[in-house]
Amino acid sequence: MSENQSSVTPTVVRLPRYTKEEQAEILGDGDDPFGVAAAGLTWLPKEEHFGIRHGGSGGRLVAHAGVLRLPVAIGAAETEVVGVGGVAVAPDVRGQGLARLVVAAALDHARTMGPRHALLFCRPPLVPLYQRLGWRPLDQDVLVEQPGDRLVAMPLRTMVTPLDDDAHWPAEPVRLLSLPM
Ligand SMILES: CC(C)(COP(=O)(O)OP(=O)(O)OC[C@H]1O[C@@H](n2cnc3c(N)ncnc32)[C@H](O)[C@@H]1OP(=O)(O)O)[C@@H](O)C(=O)NCCC(=O)NCCS
Repeated sequence: MSENQSSVTPTVVRLPRYTKEEQAEILGDGDDPFGVAAAGLTWLPKEEHFGIRHGGSGGRLVAHAGVLRLPVAIGAAETEVVGVGGVAVAPDVRGQGLARLVVAAALDHARTMGPRHALLFCRPPLVPLYQRLGWRPLDQDVLVEQPGDRLVAMPLRTMVTPLDDDAHWPAEPVRLLSLPM
């Protein structure tokens, strides 16, 4: 077992804050750690944060997922989804299931928030990873708001997952009634 691996199952904790510094602890302070700068979008910060510390409490932050409630129109119906974003795992501990763990904890919390679906945006190469975690890509265009009253088609892939057993996502046009997260 390498020194980056631990025989103890990592624990996900609720983070009291998630600033640029915490993000840099996980991903470094590069210009475009999520590889989405080319999309040129303005994003919303997440409101509630979940993280994993290497070696437990007090250790280096190595994984994060954030959530917030967002208004959305699906066809003519207005509802809310839980937006999931900022999913990040430190490069030296990837491939060990930490994204699976931290996203699962974020979704456990999302199930207490009210909306019946969670939604995320990701680069196309990450679609198979999220499918493995139980998400499915939407085929239809998704419109999102941008500053200056602009409405743009999301250039990244949109994926959804149900938060309760009976939830069904209708095959209708989707418009996020906010900035994306
Ligand atoms: C994307 C990222 C969060 C993945 O973190 P990770 O800890 O390596 O992911 P995990 O080890 O938990 O893998 C999750 C699952 O996806 C699977 N997986 C990983 N890469 C895959 C791929 N290319 N295709 C299919 N499945 C894949 C894993 O096998 C695992 O499934 P399993 O638990 O059933 O074996 C990490 O690479 C990262 O932080 N990247 C930079 C930031 C970023 O782009 N974040 C995404 C924002 S949407």
